[in-house]
Amino acid sequence: MTKVLVATEKPFAKVAVDGIKKVVEEAGFDLALLEKYTAKAELLAAVADADALIIRSDIVDAEVLDAAKQLKIVVRAGAGFDNIDLAAATAHNVCAMNTPGQNANAVAELALGLMVYCVRNMYNGTSGTELMGKKLGIHAFGNVGRNVARVAKGFGMEVYAYDAFCPKEAIEAAGVKACSSVEELYSTCQFISLHIPATAETKNSINKALVSKMPKGAVLINTARKEVINEAELLALMAEREDLRYVTDIMPAADADFKAQFPTRYFSTPKKMGAQTAEANINAGIAAAKQIVDYIKNGNEKFRLNK
Ligand code: 3PG
Repeated sequence: MTKVLVATEKPFAKVAVDGIKKVVEEAGFDLALLEKYTAKAELLAAVADADALIIRSDIVDAEVLDAAKQLKIVVRAGAGFDNIDLAAATAHNVCAMNTPGQNANAVAELALGLMVYCVRNMYNGTSGTELMGKKLGIHAFGNVGRNVARVAKGFGMEVYAYDAFCPKEAIEAAGVKACSSVEELYSTCQFISLHIPATAETKNSINKALVSKMPKGAVLINTARKEVINEAELLALMAEREDLRYVTDIMPAADADFKAQFPTRYFSTPKKMGAQTAEANINAGIAAAKQIVDYIKNGNEKFRLNK
């Protein structure tokens, strides 16, 4: 029988797993679960007889694909797919997909939550500031960026965006001010929320030259990927600029340095939790299960990433 494995080092909410199970079993497939695993060897063993795989930020590289002798499809229940080696998937004749947009609202709500936490001085009892009337720059206007814009408007923020791949007209159609360059976005906005994927082009791209353009009282919010930040340069800039604050949902490699040097201007969640809501888990997990069923039964490749 077709076996679908859910392998999540950071598990979905139980209600989402129940929903995935229902979709899988109604299709006549079997569901297997590997949650909270701590060693890659556990994943390598679990994938051995899996026909389909649902993951989150779990790494699927050539070694995992080598071990997954029966695998036909892997679906990243979420947006970013930098954790899947797409070339290796193609070489192993495995279809790779993601579930774009399914967890976008959850991540957007967390981005605003991080902003409030930051401007209210991490709830330490002192007088902070408000978001209303402040300029927010959304760096990349995909599903999460669009949701951040919607929520930020509710706070009364003045919302700007820049996206190298999204035309100005599409940004303006969403009621957001479009910037012509990334430099313009950073020099205009006191708050910058990152929504770029981690790619060869974006890695380390949020550097001193760019962040130093931000106006006084700058707050950088990262719910994207840690790899896009040039951590050494951000550390150096925060040492120079006492007004600059950094709040992130993806713990930097240099977390200890940020914490030691800037205890009141830096915050990281202990584990990425932007998509950690029951709703996002249900949306992304069930979408992943449905995409697997539709691929195996009908060959639907709509969300295929490795063309
Ligand atoms: C995504 O790319 O969808 C988000 O970063 C969420 O990742 P997670 O499923 O590991 O929480």
